Amino acid sequence: MAKTRNEVHNFNAGPAALPLEALEKAREELVNFKGSGISLMEASHRSKLYEDVHNHAKELFAELLSIPAGYEILFLQGGASLQFAMLPMNFVTEGHPGAYVMTGSWADKALSEAKKVGPTRVAGSTEAEKFHRTPSDSEISIESTDAYVHVTSNETIGGVQWKDFPDAGSVPLVSDMSSDILSRPIPVDRFSFIYAGAQKNLGPSGVTAVIAKSEFLQKAKTDVPTILSYATHVKNNSLYNTPPTFGIYVLSLVLEWVKENGGVAGMESLSRKKSSLIYDAIDESDGFFVGYVDKAYRSLMNVTFGLCTPELEKKFLEEAKEIGFMGLNGHRSVGGCRASIYNAVPLSACERLVEFMHDFARRNK
Ligand SMILES: Cc1ncc(COP(=O)(O)O)c(C=O)c1O
Repeated sequence: MAKTRNEVHNFNAGPAALPLEALEKAREELVNFKGSGISLMEASHRSKLYEDVHNHAKELFAELLSIPAGYEILFLQGGASLQFAMLPMNFVTEGHPGAYVMTGSWADKALSEAKKVGPTRVAGSTEAEKFHRTPSDSEISIESTDAYVHVTSNETIGGVQWKDFPDAGSVPLVSDMSSDILSRPIPVDRFSFIYAGAQKNLGPSGVTAVIAKSEFLQKAKTDVPTILSYATHVKNNSLYNTPPTFGIYVLSLVLEWVKENGGVAGMESLSRKKSSLIYDAIDESDGFFVGYVDKAYRSLMNVTFGLCTPELEKKFLEEAKEIGFMGLNGHRSVGGCRASIYNAVPLSACERLVEFMHDFARRNK
């Protein structure tokens, strides 16, 4: 049966909920973009019409994340998955391995890809504790010869999030921030390289944002295929080949929405409110709902939990789906439940979910 947007609460893990205001603006401008007589999708990526959108998106992104001078912003394709390979292709050399801190499935994927490219090493891991927390600085070994130290700021599948990033000293710190970029202020100056697939907090899929320190980029290898070399994209303002123009445009609309709603600080306080509601419902359920992650490391973006029996978990997910809660199933690799509450998921959706959790527990305890 056809549903209206009001009848659905979108907790998808990515692609995920986008701000309604951004979607409506895109609809308004879809067929005739700013009085040009054509859709932006029909415009050349070399046109002034698109160039303005592209540069506006970069400027807003820099403003919202307080990206200091000396950093490049790139809009690439291939998702965060391409960055798993492209980063080591550009920076890893014999004697200078990529060092990876293991915190769950996405860190594991990043390491697996890097291994195919060149030398790597594990700089720390909480695998023995089922990745229920991130390692402390004393559990991470950083060598001065490391090409970089890679962390995954938020493990989308496991629901564990770095609260303080490790001190990498003079070794370049790199982070996959796909699932929590723009959800909190970040000390960009502590990182040499940050990347994020757009389809959670930034916009539609098809765009990958990269923030890279120019000094770090200068160390990149030069014998890399043109399209896979960061230097190519820096030199061409991410316009070496045809970029995902419409995706970057929608990203700019999402950035405008974030700015109008208190910027990253506003997003963080809203995320704290939304996640606390759900974590409280888990913690106050007397073991009916079970959280997987140690409290201090719980993600503000992906709330992972289970129910006390597999039967109840199945029933919970089925009922939830039936009444309009979308995307509450855990990742197919781990099962369980997961509420992805990215920036655009309204507080009201989390309130409805908590009401349903209480009601379900009352009926099934
Ligand atoms: C933390 C993290 N890294 C990487 C990826 C892979 O992103 P993509 O599908 O854009 O390649 C995802 C996707 O969900 C993710 O959550």
